[in-house]
Amino acid sequence: MLVNMKRMLESAKDGKYAVAQFNINNLEWTRFILEECQSNNSPVILGVSEGAAKYMGGYKTIYDIVNDLIDYLHITIPVALHLDHGSSFEVCKEAIDSGFTSVMIDASMYELNENIEITKKVVSYSKDRDVTVEGEIGHVGSNMDQGIMYAEVMDCVKYLKETGIDFLAPALGSVHGLYKGEPKLNFDRMLEISKITNIPLVLHGGTGIYDSQIKKSIECGISKININTELQIAWSNALKEKINSDIYDPRKIIKLGEDALKECVRNKIILLGSKGKANTQNNI
Ligand code: 13P
Repeated sequence: MLVNMKRMLESAKDGKYAVAQFNINNLEWTRFILEECQSNNSPVILGVSEGAAKYMGGYKTIYDIVNDLIDYLHITIPVALHLDHGSSFEVCKEAIDSGFTSVMIDASMYELNENIEITKKVVSYSKDRDVTVEGEIGHVGSNMDQGIMYAEVMDCVKYLKETGIDFLAPALGSVHGLYKGEPKLNFDRMLEISKITNIPLVLHGGTGIYDSQIKKSIECGISKININTELQIAWSNALKEKINSDIYDPRKIIKLGEDALKECVRNKIILLGSKGKANTQNNI
């Protein structure tokens, strides 16, 4: 069932668990993720970056793939199709017009007032269309960035008040991709932002964060955790281990990483506490 993230993440916040956003890259990954989440009766968010959208043939193609797979595989869990890091109003609009049920507008590279103006435009377009919006404050960078920048509490309050976004992704010390050294999450700031905004918070850069930190993040108000690189590593390691010159059928090649990818998805669902939560959400 294709839904937006509102009920999904509000239930997660109330129930003190988190829903994973797994990024998709092709038809097979989409299928593997859907099948594993269905087997575990877990809600799921399928994240699509702008790069993945270009690779897969555009937002409409992705919407059709996801929608048709849900039908073909008899998927009954709540599934959100979410634009990850939309860089402009135009990109968000394109995803929404193609059937995406949720978008992230990431205007965090601009100063706060400009970020607010761009975000407001996306929120206003999405509201009539039953699409949820995630926004970013501070900047979740990569391990190439210098130093750590944590979101300011009062910036988050102003941003939420003026834009009316549904979910907030504040920079809290996580990075996209692999960490150089230890992840340095600011849990005090996380809790403060959660208490003052009272909306579900999103943690980007889920790869490489210790299990204990993931658990603590959920206690401090995180309801959605984005995971991409870890799936890529699990899938590609399995592929490298198993491939040989007798395997040339592309379907068999991609399938070599299926079990590893599914195992990674299953472990995250268990860690985040969303296993078994699909029915609760459907019945609300
Ligand atoms: P990782 O690649 O570090 O798991 O981060 C994914 C992410 O945050 C997508 O928005």
